[in-house]
Amino acid sequence: MSETRQEHWDNVFTTKAEEAVSWFQATPETSLRLIHACHLATDAFILDVGAGASHLPDALLGEGFTKIAVLDVSAAALERTRTRLGNRGRAVRFIVADIAAWQPEFPVDLWHDRAALHFLTEPRDREAYADAMRRAVKPGGFVLISGFAPSGPERCSGLPVLRADQDAIATLLGADFTLLDAFEEDHRTPSGEQQRFVFTRFQRRR
Ligand SMILES: C[S@@+](CC[C@H](N)C(=O)[O-])C[C@H]1O[C@@H](n2cnc3c(N)ncnc32)[C@H](O)[C@@H]1O
Repeated sequence: MSETRQEHWDNVFTTKAEEAVSWFQATPETSLRLIHACHLATDAFILDVGAGASHLPDALLGEGFTKIAVLDVSAAALERTRTRLGNRGRAVRFIVADIAAWQPEFPVDLWHDRAALHFLTEPRDREAYADAMRRAVKPGGFVLISGFAPSGPERCSGLPVLRADQDAIATLLGADFTLLDAFEEDHRTPSGEQQRFVFTRFQRRR
């Protein structure tokens, strides 16, 4: 039987050191810059989809945000974050779920995704992702999605990815979401490779 998504990612997060994974960032600077551009109140609800063991919640807590949720298919990934945050983690909601099958349980002001959507290569899964996003994001809320650009790598963590530009992401989200920012940027992996990413920021119409 082939490995499930959860098995793949739990295996990654239990066997690889934090800084050994290609997507590692000590500080997610570009995501933070895009979040700052949204001018959210500190009680805004921020959901990080496919959060892995990212340091984004650490940074958001440090900025005074009080309503943060991290969602990932890998319980092992989220456990790393929970351990790292210690007592500060009490303010964070941890959700173990496959985003292609998740039913949102609360409205969010900001949906953030760095390098998770691009693993959904099947149209059915991408549609399910977009449906979950549309159910979760409030009118006037923001969506930040980044992933491998059309000239980026074809695989990540040994899995095929669907590389996409801003137009493809905008089409997936639908006409209710206005594109506010889009640009490409290279991510330098811990082993020194360059990976071309596209970053997008959308706002839902009110
Ligand atoms: C490349 S890592 C990026 C992690 C994090 N966003 C970051 O920037 O460090 C991709 C993450 O997406 C998660 N993931 C992959 N497919 C998923 C799915 N269908 N539902 C939820 N999470 C998923 C993986 O477990 C992994 O943590």
